[in-house]
Amino acid sequence: MHFTNNIVNCHYKNNLMALNTINPTETKAWLKLQLHFETMKSNSIKEMFQNDTERAEKFHIQWNDFLVDFSKNNINQQTLDLLLELAEEVKLNDAISSYFNGEEINQTESRAVLHTALRAPQSASVSVANKNVIPEIYEVKKNIQQFSNEIISGKRKGFTNKSFTDVVNIGIGGSDLGPAMVVEALQFYKNHLNVHFVSNIDGDHVNEIIKKLNPETTLFVIVSKTFTTQETLTNSETIRNWFLKSASQQDIAKHFVAVSTNIEKVTNFGIEATSIFPMWDWVGGRFSLWSAVGLSISLAVGYDNFDKLLKGANQMDEHFKNESSNKNIPVILALISIWYNNFFGAETEAIIPYTQYLQKLAPYLQQGIMESNGKSIGRDGKTVNYQTGTIIWGEPGSNSQHAFFQLIHQGTKLIPTDFIGFVKPLYGNEDHHNKLMSNFFAQTEALLNGKSAAQVQAEFDKQGLEKPKADYLKPFKVFSGNKPTNTILIKQLTPETLGSLVAMYEHKIFVQGIIWNIFSYDQWGVELGKQLANSILSEIESKTVNHHDSSTEFLLKYFLKK
Ligand code: F6P
Repeated sequence: MHFTNNIVNCHYKNNLMALNTINPTETKAWLKLQLHFETMKSNSIKEMFQNDTERAEKFHIQWNDFLVDFSKNNINQQTLDLLLELAEEVKLNDAISSYFNGEEINQTESRAVLHTALRAPQSASVSVANKNVIPEIYEVKKNIQQFSNEIISGKRKGFTNKSFTDVVNIGIGGSDLGPAMVVEALQFYKNHLNVHFVSNIDGDHVNEIIKKLNPETTLFVIVSKTFTTQETLTNSETIRNWFLKSASQQDIAKHFVAVSTNIEKVTNFGIEATSIFPMWDWVGGRFSLWSAVGLSISLAVGYDNFDKLLKGANQMDEHFKNESSNKNIPVILALISIWYNNFFGAETEAIIPYTQYLQKLAPYLQQGIMESNGKSIGRDGKTVNYQTGTIIWGEPGSNSQHAFFQLIHQGTKLIPTDFIGFVKPLYGNEDHHNKLMSNFFAQTEALLNGKSAAQVQAEFDKQGLEKPKADYLKPFKVFSGNKPTNTILIKQLTPETLGSLVAMYEHKIFVQGIIWNIFSYDQWGVELGKQLANSILSEIESKTVNHHDSSTEFLLKYFLKK
């Protein structure tokens, strides 16, 4: 017993060593940043541009097909220097090495965090528990490639010997959002297969999907890292029952495959071991699209494009790992975001891609960012005394301009915003693209410069508006400006650039988690709701309402009257 405890303690201590525990607010840089903030808080970004014609030259990073312009922020060189000092004081570089080297930086679950290994080249060597994991990653990739090729080419057929026309990805959270976002984003590169996603436990969701399907020509991909998730298992059972109305038990093998770490549970469900694509516990759900969780991506756009997506992510990994902090895109974006979150008190960040293809980027990043950094306990086990995870939201431009941009321009809240745009469109329609991109550039310019009372008056004068009306209207038409934005301008939306873009945000998450001294790779916060839902389900099924708070009791009784 004593011996076992020693092992546990030793393991625990080793885990504690994977990442430093430094309260960022107790660093010298933080104190300097607080003082610096006092001189910057009422600064005008517009004036900084007027005083320095080289500002855009100084505050941008050009890398591969990316141009990241962060000059339209309320920062100067001193701000950046101090933020970089903060990164150094919390030993960011050591943490980056621990991350890529497979140390157990997911300390509360005793796991490494190695989605980066999934896109590493075959020649790389990454060890988990003294074993190089690259060969098994490539073994699974080979299976993904072969399987995708056989489904796409029609070599593999359904139970009535017809080729597959449809694929349904059944999963939720990271087992849905990543593949769904990428399949949507890369639809220009898509083949003939129709790919659908069922995630919500809402039975109406699954019914709306299956009503369009022919069981003879549909492939079902059940994706669940744990294979214990209520939504995925319930949807899979509903679909299996629907399938068995037209097929027999033995036909399941031809139509159902699974992606999971839990081989035993998958085989119990009735899927053959040979139809399971394994994944590993060192890949977090929200970072798993690069693994076999991306099978539906490979089916939709072909393995070569899936591989290009991984290559693009790997290029960003190399940039992040090797580039010095002051020229490192994820580091700079993370630091600027901390500047607003922790010093200006900004609570949210908007992400606005100027392409309809990226309409699922914000929901995808909501999980990535908020499930990772929505934490209030520091790595020392104590409640943090500063703000952590930002609230993420967004929609594609130009639609969002006609929806919520009013609040960003003239509301009372500070909302740092990332604008993501592309130099070239995919179909080459110049007229549309020039109009789209003129909106893209106009928005960040308007957010920066605003519109002064004098400019508004000049417009009124031109229109010949009488003075009383002009005086009345003027305050409503003034824009204060000074709203911070990052512009991420990418050559074209390709599998490679999409891979790099997603990896950029993944590493931004990592940097922020390190600086905030939190554990970014667990998600204990989603467990309580799951537990309570299970106990409420038994009350609903037995029609007996137990003791709850009076509101929950009242609602349950009302629901059971149906
Ligand atoms: O509910 C949170 C979560 O654990 C996510 O982190 C994960 O992506 C999702 O559930 C799905 O989990 P699984 O792939 O195990 O079904």
